[in-house]
Formats: sequence, C-alpha cells, structure tokens
Amino acid sequence: MSDMQTHLKFGATWSPTGIFKPGNPKPVLTTPMGYLFDGDCLQVLPTIFDNSVDTVFADPPFNIGKTYGKKVNDSRPDEEYVAWCKKWIDECIRVLKPGGAFFLYNLPRWNIILGAQLAEQGLTFRHWVAIGLKVLMPIPGRLYPAHYSLLYYTKGKPKTFRNIRVPIQTCRHCGGEVKDYGGHRNAMNPKGVNLTDIWEDISPVRHWRFKSKNRKANQLSTKLVNRAVQISTHPGDTILDPFGGAGTTFDVCEAAGRHWIGIELQNCDVIIERMESVNIRHHENDDFVEEQRISGVGQKKTHMTNKPTVKCV
Ligand SMILES: C[S@@+](CC[C@H](N)C(=O)[O-])C[C@H]1O[C@@H](n2cnc3c(N)ncnc32)[C@H](O)[C@@H]1O
Repeated sequence: MSDMQTHLKFGATWSPTGIFKPGNPKPVLTTPMGYLFDGDCLQVLPTIFDNSVDTVFADPPFNIGKTYGKKVNDSRPDEEYVAWCKKWIDECIRVLKPGGAFFLYNLPRWNIILGAQLAEQGLTFRHWVAIGLKVLMPIPGRLYPAHYSLLYYTKGKPKTFRNIRVPIQTCRHCGGEVKDYGGHRNAMNPKGVNLTDIWEDISPVRHWRFKSKNRKANQLSTKLVNRAVQISTHPGDTILDPFGGAGTTFDVCEAAGRHWIGIELQNCDVIIERMESVNIRHHENDDFVEEQRISGVGQKKTHMTNKPTVKCV
C-alpha cells in the first residue's frame, strides 16, 4: 500500500467514529465525505469494525479475462473465483449494519451462486434486478444475453427503503405514451410509476463526458449506482464499495451527501483524478425518490467545495 496520502484542497476531512479499528491502513485519499484505500479488499476489510456501514455496493471483476492491470487476475478457474468472492462477501456482510443493504452487480451465471452465499450467510433476499444491456454479442448455441444482474439483499429487515418513481414511458419517436395503463391513466401518480426490478434505462458508459480518459476498463453509470444509494440510505449514511474501479460510487456519494469507504487494488490515481475533476458528468436522472427529488441532470459537479454536497432536494 502506498504511504502517500492525498487531501483534496478543500474542507476538513471526514472523522468517522466506530468504523475503523485502531491501526487501520492510511487512506490514499480523504475528503469531507470519504476515505479511499489503495490495496486488496481482503486486507482492508478486516480493519473495519463489525456492523458499521449502512450499504455495501460491490461490482467485482467478472472473471472474464479483462485486463485491469498486473495486480488483478480476471481469469481464475471457476471454483477459485467463487471461493474468492465468498471471502470478500463474508467480510462485507460482517461490516454491514443490521438492516443494511448489500448490492452485488455481476453476470447472472455468477450471481446465481453468489446470491446463494448471501442467503446462506443469513441475508434476506429483496430483489434480482435485471439491468438491460444495450450492446450485445450473440453467443452461438445460447439465448441472446440481455441483462446483467444486480442482487439486492438486506441484513435482516431493511432499515431503509425509499421508493423510487420513474417518468411514464414515452415513445422516443412520437413522444406518445407507450402503455395505456388499462384505462387507469388519469388515476396515476403524477410523479411517475413505481420503479420495477427491470431497469432498461441504464446506458453503458461510453462517452468521455462521463468517464476518465485514463481508464480503459469498464465503469458503471452514475444512474445505476445512485439508485442503489437512494433506495437504501439517507444523507449522512455510509456506503462501502470494495472494488473502486473509476470511483463511480464515491462520486455518486459525494453528490448525494453520503459518506463512503472505497478500496481499489490496481489504480487509485484515476479515482483521485475523478474526485478532483469537475469535468466528468453524471448521467441524466429523472428518478423521483419519495421524500426527495434528484436534480443531478447531466450537470457539472459543484460538490468539491465547502458548501453542502447534497444535490437532492
Ligand atoms: C468492475 S471494476 C469496478 C468498476 C466500478 N464499479 C466503476 O464504476 O468504476 C472492478 C475493480 O475491482 C478492482 N479489484 C480487483 N480485485 C480487487 C481486490 N482484491 N481488492 C480491491 N480491488 C480489486 C479492479 O482493479 C477493478 O478496478
């Protein structure tokens, strides 16, 4: 782990109490909202106290031979990959507060196994969310794969569940509404329809407006991560992401006024760059969170100041 520590130029850093054990490794980045650790999540997670974070959001490598860098092996034998996942999953469950939420993003073929692990460890199943894929490669002899899986479990009864409403679906050609709602259209909530467990409105992150030029590997849409954050936490709560990647979760947390703990093994520099940059935008988001409206519509980030960071009102 690097000895270098970066404090962003603004504001006092976060002083969490009851989260890190004495002698925990030094973060490479601290902000008023979060801590980033450069290292292996299996080394860092044990330095966090039991029952101390509100939500875990994990987007691990999928074991499909991607190149993240020399420190990451994304081509393990199947059994080894599953055994590795079970180790960090168990640690994440340990640090999750009672009632906290665990989101796990992966291919269906892995999540069917990893979901069983979450259940075996006593977590409560909430949803298998299907995230619709836009760009697909047909696989000979198989059905055409059209979704990623986002598992949503809680440690017992959920302590927070905030319902999300999404705009009534319209045709992108004519602008007309796609469904007739069985003749009950006039009785519908003007704030939109309840979010379902199929999310077809998540775009892949392709455009440079939304990502760092220094990271070639995949990263998630802020809209997807924001939903998990909004559903399961309140401002001031703490989210743990053990696979930082390009820092999407931390960026979302900063904008949403949530504390965050991040770990990344390969390259923390792109995360630090993203947290300092005001040029990487968030995806358009028309979600209505019951209690508060999300207003981060493709706007430039303004949260790297001493001003309150919450954009949701
Ligand atoms: C799929 S990417 C995460 C992308 C992230 N959700 C985003 O939107 O930017 C997985 C990340 O996990 C990191 N990683 C792999 N093994 C790790 C480990 N043992 N501990 C911490 N990070 C690890 C990889 O370097 C990679 O950046």
